[in-house]
Amino acid sequence: MHTPPTGLYEAPLPSDWPEPEALGFGRVLGPYLVHAQHGEDGHWHAPTVSVRNALPVPVASGGLQYGLSVFEGLKAYRDPRGQIHLFRPRDHARRLQQSARRVVMPEPPEDLFMTLCQLAVQVHARYVPPHGRGALYLRPTLYAEEEALGFRPATRHRLAVAVTPSADPAPKHLRLWAEHELTRAAPGGLGAAKTGGNYAAGLAGLQRARENGYDDVIWLDALTRRELAEAGTMNVFVQIGDEVLTPPLDGTILAGITRDSVLRLLRAEGLRVSEQRISLDELAAAQMAGQLGAAFGVGTAARLVKVSEIGDGERAIRFTDTGLPARVYDALKQVQEGSTHALREWRVAVPTPQTP
Ligand code: COI
Repeated sequence: MHTPPTGLYEAPLPSDWPEPEALGFGRVLGPYLVHAQHGEDGHWHAPTVSVRNALPVPVASGGLQYGLSVFEGLKAYRDPRGQIHLFRPRDHARRLQQSARRVVMPEPPEDLFMTLCQLAVQVHARYVPPHGRGALYLRPTLYAEEEALGFRPATRHRLAVAVTPSADPAPKHLRLWAEHELTRAAPGGLGAAKTGGNYAAGLAGLQRARENGYDDVIWLDALTRRELAEAGTMNVFVQIGDEVLTPPLDGTILAGITRDSVLRLLRAEGLRVSEQRISLDELAAAQMAGQLGAAFGVGTAARLVKVSEIGDGERAIRFTDTGLPARVYDALKQVQEGSTHALREWRVAVPTPQTP
């Protein structure tokens, strides 16, 4: 366990620091970056703490030129006693390794990922909102920083963890635009990798959704454009009859850690759950038959948001709120925040001076 430089734990919060509820998401960044370089020697160097803007990313780096950049998003919460925990950090470490492999970048060892995340929490401990009122969101980012314009794997990379204290996501509902023209990912492509390029591909979908009067996009499969893939930044679930369905991990969608947590919680409730293809036609037929229940999107940043409608300008599929999304939201929040002993193997405590 690395200890942060003396003094960083104790740095006081700025006097005009907002209440947790006013933080929103991603707007307020922590003052430090915790990072480690992977050098030409093929080794990971020791973790370092810097002020956030101290690290230049060269214009001629593979990170900027060729999108050699993969990232994770995970949260640290305070439990009812004030102890800080990271939620499922090792699962995030393994997903980062998979993303890195896909774009030929060095895979950060799991223990290095853990050390950097723990250090990032420790130096920002003062910024972790009180129990129940939000989280510290960590954004571990691996990028190529070698300056070279030839198209080949880079020889120098960095894994850096930025953080943003964020509000507890408010339960809300969204109308999703089913995008038929643009696609996010095709079989064999990058869809399962958490890489910046997927988000770049997705932004125009979000824009088209908004232009059409919707809140966010739901991507369809690239081959038939009839089946649900994933929403802008979330995996999706729908209830048909007594079954809950979510699209399978076929390599075109992100293997969400929250998706996995929700599958586990739904199964623990005794619900029938299936990872299977879901077509718009099937949803429309279920609606006609009075079998269509609730739908919701899940992700680390958003936790869980209800989906009230999926539309594409020609038809509108309207979901019925059966109460399931609120139950799952509450169950997930309790597990994440340590308000229950259930699934405590998902929480990894981070020692800080207040909670040794
Ligand atoms: C997350 O939920 O962690 C994400 O990566 C979504 C983010 C792009 C806002």
